[in-house]
Amino acid sequence: MIICICRNINDKGVREAVEAGARSPKAVQAHHGCQFNCGKCKCAMGEAIADTLDAMTPELELIAAE
Ligand code: FES
Repeated sequence: MIICICRNINDKGVREAVEAGARSPKAVQAHHGCQFNCGKCKCAMGEAIADTLDAMTPELELIAAE
């Protein structure tokens, strides 16, 4: 699914950036060597970052719940 139409960044691209250490929409753009154009994707990208981080840390949630 395309997240940023201007820069052609999809959910896989967001996931790759987060796995490389990006934790903000601006950092995801920087990971792909670009900057925001219209900025309309910021909210969707933030949600994709949060979803990716949630998927990356299920073990930590289990530890915290114990
Ligand atoms: S949709 Fe991402 S900068 Fe325009």
